[in-house]
Amino acid sequence: MKYVVSEKTPKLDLKSAAIVPVFDEDISKSQNARQSLPFAPALEAGLKSGSISPKAGGVHLIRNLAAGKHAPCAIAFAFLGRQVDCDDIFAANTITSAFAAVSGAMPKTVAVHWPLIINTASARTFSSQLCSGLEMSTYKFDKYKSGESKAAKKANPHAQEVIFAAPKQLHAQIRQGAKKGEIIGIAANFARRLANEPANVATPGFIARAAMDMAKKNGLACKVLGKPKLLGLGMNSMCSVAQGSTQEPALVVLEYMGEGKGKPFHALIGKGVTFDSGGISIKPAKEMDQMKFDKSGACAVIAAMGALKQLGIRKNIVAVAPLVENLPSGSAYKPGDIVRASNGKTIEVLNTDAEGRMILADALAYTVKNYKPETILDFATLTGACVIALGDVASGLFSNDDALAQSVAEAANAAGERVWRLPLWREYDSKIKSEVADMKNVGESGQAGPAAGASFLKEFVGKSKWAHIDIAGTAWLTKPKNGMAAGATGVGVRIALEHASSL
Ligand code: BES
Ligand code: MN
Ligand code: ZN
Repeated sequence: MKYVVSEKTPKLDLKSAAIVPVFDEDISKSQNARQSLPFAPALEAGLKSGSISPKAGGVHLIRNLAAGKHAPCAIAFAFLGRQVDCDDIFAANTITSAFAAVSGAMPKTVAVHWPLIINTASARTFSSQLCSGLEMSTYKFDKYKSGESKAAKKANPHAQEVIFAAPKQLHAQIRQGAKKGEIIGIAANFARRLANEPANVATPGFIARAAMDMAKKNGLACKVLGKPKLLGLGMNSMCSVAQGSTQEPALVVLEYMGEGKGKPFHALIGKGVTFDSGGISIKPAKEMDQMKFDKSGACAVIAAMGALKQLGIRKNIVAVAPLVENLPSGSAYKPGDIVRASNGKTIEVLNTDAEGRMILADALAYTVKNYKPETILDFATLTGACVIALGDVASGLFSNDDALAQSVAEAANAAGERVWRLPLWREYDSKIKSEVADMKNVGESGQAGPAAGASFLKEFVGKSKWAHIDIAGTAWLTKPKNGMAAGATGVGVRIALEHASSL
């Protein structure tokens, strides 16, 4: 989409729509004071008749306004609640929902009235997160719906142009933010396209080829290590997960040299389980289809790598994505197995469904050994307990370094994704103590699952500053939310790119 700014309320016609943010403070004003709001008469009428109930986060769509000069085909009021309670993420998500709502009227242009509390202090960041969200609202996974391409487009139309109506002194910042947000949103949509592919298509080999294509297009170095190489490097922990499947494992390694040779690396690591049946510790049938998204972390880091150059990031970044399929079979790894990971540590497998940490263990050890990165961020759909704790609202954040945790949280906030830090105290280490090996792959059942997973991963990061982002609850949506279609959300792409720009 094209993003432009305009000082005056743009001239609207039937091919355009408008979005008006409304705060509780606007509602409690006198009717007279409200007259300055765009489309005030429509708001007044709705409030008076009771057809508009201004609930924070809600959107009120009006189509077929009385025809007249400058009548758009649709307007949407985006209710942002009380100003003191409204943060950037809430405002951007609500406006994006409004954008999705007006899109049903198929406007060519959408005018977005700028929420005026977003002033010079944060206009650039807000514009970036809002535009990435708007960009993401234009994508839907419909490529396998045959013969319906036209109808599908109709159901998922999007405008060609967004006009921000905002005070002149904010224009430069809004423009800069929009440029960045558009790049980030397009990258997130790439991650979503990959993650939405079903497991019969998106095998480890398929994702590895997608990474190679992406690298070729963007001038990045890309290596894919296959099974013989992985076994040769002693990556038995990762390979043991793959051994139940006919699909061979693959490790994708992508390098972006934004600072130049000899300068330090920063690492992005993504869990890539193309299908997680649980293996011998098999999952229940209900909703097992969702486990095609268990590769979302890998898709996120691969897609993020493709946007670094466009964002002008001047750091060296390496992305490592271990790819496997976790299935039960006569050759599958089993509860009770003891495997030696590539850093020499032994792991007692007590549950083959705790496979994410098994593959991340070797990927982390590989990255630490070969790149000695200054920071590591890993993105993984690691634990069902994280879904219980934080739902689809926020990802869990764990870190062995307070400053890094802080900078990741700030990057997430600026990027428009919520993370919430959870503890990684040494007390949790005892959860993964094994009687027969250096560690076991699960903690006590029903106790601190996300922290036990993080404690396990910590064993493989050496002295690197590391942050683990558990995206189990945020990587996919079972129904549309915040203007985003159901399916893969591309979570992690925005955090990774914002964090890379802050390094
Ligand atoms: N991919 C799952 C985590 C998951 C579960 C994501 C549900 C989204 C929804 C992961 O591999 C897994 O199975 N984790 C186990 C770990 C347990 C065996 C310690 C879990 O959370 O049950
Ligand atoms: Mn699992
Ligand atoms: Zn998994």
